[in-house]
Amino acid sequence: MQTDQRFPVGIIGSGAMGSGIAQVAAVAGHDVIVLDSNPAALEKSKQHLAATLLKLQEKGKLPDAQAVIDRLSFTADNGALAGCGLVIEAIVENLEVKKKVFAGLEQVVSTDCILASNTSSLSIASIASACAQPERVLGIHFFNPAPLMALVEVIPAVQTRAGLPEQIKDLMTQWGKAPVIARDTPGFIVNRVARPFYGEALRIYEEGIAGMATIDWAMTSLAGFKMGPFTLMDYIGHDVNYVVTETVFQSFFYDPRYKPSFSQKRLLEAGWLGRKSGRGFYSYAEGVVQPEPQKDEAAGRKITERILFMLINEAVDAVQWQVASAPDIELAMTKGVNYPKGLLQWCDELGADYVLAGLDALYNTYREDRYRASALLRRMGIEGRKFF
Ligand SMILES: NC(=O)c1ccc[n+]([C@@H]2O[C@H](COP(=O)([O-])OP(=O)(O)OC[C@H]3O[C@@H](n4cnc5c(N)ncnc54)[C@H](O)[C@@H]3O)[C@@H](O)[C@H]2O)c1
Repeated sequence: MQTDQRFPVGIIGSGAMGSGIAQVAAVAGHDVIVLDSNPAALEKSKQHLAATLLKLQEKGKLPDAQAVIDRLSFTADNGALAGCGLVIEAIVENLEVKKKVFAGLEQVVSTDCILASNTSSLSIASIASACAQPERVLGIHFFNPAPLMALVEVIPAVQTRAGLPEQIKDLMTQWGKAPVIARDTPGFIVNRVARPFYGEALRIYEEGIAGMATIDWAMTSLAGFKMGPFTLMDYIGHDVNYVVTETVFQSFFYDPRYKPSFSQKRLLEAGWLGRKSGRGFYSYAEGVVQPEPQKDEAAGRKITERILFMLINEAVDAVQWQVASAPDIELAMTKGVNYPKGLLQWCDELGADYVLAGLDALYNTYREDRYRASALLRRMGIEGRKFF
C-alpha cells in the first residue's frame, strides 16, 4: 500500500461507524466500496451519505458533493473488494463473526492489501489470528461520529509488521484526522482512561453523596466538561456504555478499578437505555420536570476532585504501562471525548502530590484496591515531577 496514492478503500459494515468512515475516506479522495450483508442497511447508508454530503456542500463545507458521491459504491459482494489497498471492518462487535469476515476477506484481496478493524473492545491480536498474513492487520479505531471526531487510535497487534502503524498514521493525517498509536490493551486509550468519568460518578451517586443532577452540574459548571456523566451515559446509551465497562473490567482480569455499577446494569436490564429509549437516568418524556442540582460550590468541588483524581490516576497509569505516549494520551482525551484539558496537564497543574494525597485519602477511607494510586503518580508526587 502506498499511502500517497488514492487507492480504493473497502469498508465492511455500513452502520453508524462504517458509513462515517466511508465518508471520511471518500472526501479524502479515495474510491470507496461499502459492503454490508444487509441490503436495507446498505440502502440506508447510501441515502444518508448522499444527503449528508449535499448538506455539507450547501453549508459551503464541501466544494463538490457529487464528485464524492460518485466515488462511493455499495455492494453485498465480497469480490468487489478485490482491488482495495486498505479494508476497514466496522461490523457487529463479535469476535467470532469478525474472525470469519477477516478470513474470508483474505481470499479476495491482494497480498499487499492492509486489513483493519474498527473494534472498540476486542483484541487486535485475536482478530489478526484469523488471517494467513496477520502482519498486515491492525486496529484503526474511529470515534462516533467519524466525520466530526478528529481522533483515530491506530493499534498494532503483536503480529503487525514494523512500520505499518506509522504508515497508517500518515494516511490518517492525510485524511484530516488526529491519529495516536495505542497498545493492544483493553479499551486502548480513550475507552480505558475515560472509565472513571462514569464509574466514580456512579459510585458517588450510589453512596448517596449527591444526586445525578448535582454531579452533572458539578462536572459541567465547575470542572468544564461539555456534558455531565449521567447525561452522557444516557446519550451514549446504557447498552453501549455499560457493555464497554463490563468488557474492560473482564479484560483486565477483574481489576476492581473498572468494576461496573448495579444502578447502570439495572437500567440496561429494564430497557431504560437512555435518550434513544426515552428513559435512562433521566426521563426524556415531554413535560417531565428534571431533578434540580444542589448548587453548593464547596460540595461540588469535592465531587469534581474525586472524579478527576480517578481520571488522572487512570491516565498516569496508562503512561506507566506504556499504553501510549503522554502527548498521545492528552490528544486522545481532548480530541476523542472532548475533555476540557489533557488529564496529564491537569495533573501538572494540580500537582502530582496533591492528586496522590487525594487518592490516598480515598484509599484510607475505603480500603479498596479501586483507589490505589498508580506507582508512577506516587513517584512523581514524591519527587515533585511534572509531565510537561
Ligand atoms: N457506535 C460507536 O460509537 C462506535 C465507536 C467506535 C467503534 N465502534 C465499533 O465499530 C463497529 C461497528 O459499530 P456500529 O455502531 O457502526 O454498528 P452498527 O450496528 O451501526 O453497524 C454494523 C453493520 O454491520 C453489518 N454487518 C454485521 N455483520 C456483518 C457481516 N458479517 N458482513 C457484512 N456486514 C455485516 C450490519 O448489517 C450493520 O449494518 C463495532 O465493532 C463497534 O464496536 C462503534
